[in-house]
Amino acid sequence: MGSRRNWLKQTSLGIVSLGIIPLESFAVSKEEILIKEEANLIPIYLRSNENPYGPSDLARNAMAKSINSSNRYNWDSVSDLISKIAKKDNLAAENILLGAGSTEILDLVARYCAVNKGSFILADPTYNYWTEAVEKLGLTKITVPLTEDKTHDLSAMLNAIQPDTRMIYICNPNNPTGTICERVALVNFINEATKKVIVLVDEAYIDFTNQESLVNLVTENKNLIIAKTFSKMYGLAGARIGYGIANSSTIEKISQLQSWNNGSISVVSVSGALASISDEKFVLETYMRNKNTREYTIKELERLKIQCIPSHSNFVYFSLANYTKDFFEQLKMNNIIGTKIYEEKGEWSRITIGTKKEMEQFIKALE
Ligand SMILES: Cc1ncc(COP(=O)(O)O)c(C=O)c1O
Repeated sequence: MGSRRNWLKQTSLGIVSLGIIPLESFAVSKEEILIKEEANLIPIYLRSNENPYGPSDLARNAMAKSINSSNRYNWDSVSDLISKIAKKDNLAAENILLGAGSTEILDLVARYCAVNKGSFILADPTYNYWTEAVEKLGLTKITVPLTEDKTHDLSAMLNAIQPDTRMIYICNPNNPTGTICERVALVNFINEATKKVIVLVDEAYIDFTNQESLVNLVTENKNLIIAKTFSKMYGLAGARIGYGIANSSTIEKISQLQSWNNGSISVVSVSGALASISDEKFVLETYMRNKNTREYTIKELERLKIQCIPSHSNFVYFSLANYTKDFFEQLKMNNIIGTKIYEEKGEWSRITIGTKKEMEQFIKALE
């Protein structure tokens, strides 16, 4: 698989060169975006599991105001945000490390594990864009296929641990399949695996599920690290803000690889995150809208004889094996940006749950 960097470069250049979306469209107001959407001038982005409703109004206002403070470094606002995150999860500030998106946290943990070389384990397919850099640093990748129903095969992952294994990555819910690990099984797995290796659990999509986060286990377990993000439920993907939660001694160790701790996020992004974290109304609305639109999408895909995996997230994984038209051509003709084939066998692909209107257009495009 090519790197995400190249892939994104290609897709965005492709979109621009097709004249579908001018570059300056990233600087337009919410109203202008709506007008362009009405006129079908903006593609429907169903590619990267972004939140189609965000940022919340509270976040937008806070971010706009904070532009005036952009001449100052982010020290004060960062410590406010860390306290707020800690309070929400009943943890201490020492349990939290901020990054420019949870990608920075995944990258830091993986680089920390790569210091003494060795191997790391992850499922296939799973979210893996952060792995390329650490493979270059000398960490060997061991992949463990998902089960038939596209969930993590936790016992096979335990069995895959080698004497030199440093880390196991679990994406829960898993991207691209939208499946979750059963909680008791996951906790048992963590208890077992962390006797030998670090377990990094990526909870980017946990807020779309009914499952409780694992953050409270970190005080008792130095080998468990949880990655979280403001990109998905809070609709702040472009603001680039995420965080890692771990035992304070573990945070101290991984933060040694971050040149300026908590320094990579702008004052504006921190303000957006601060306003979002207590915006329960927006979270509940997004949760319900996503759940209803996901149900609609799955029902419609199944009507078109497209097999779907039950999803606990804001995207759906489906098989194009029985779909007779050219899926990607249909999307292109209708100005819809999807993603790729993840598994050739069964032709499995993924679609992000957008607004109800966007998903209606998506279904219409496939008919
Ligand atoms: C499972 C998973 N983890 C992490 C990320 C990266 O998110 P961020 O925007 O916080 O870097 C993504 C983005 O799509 C993701 O799907």
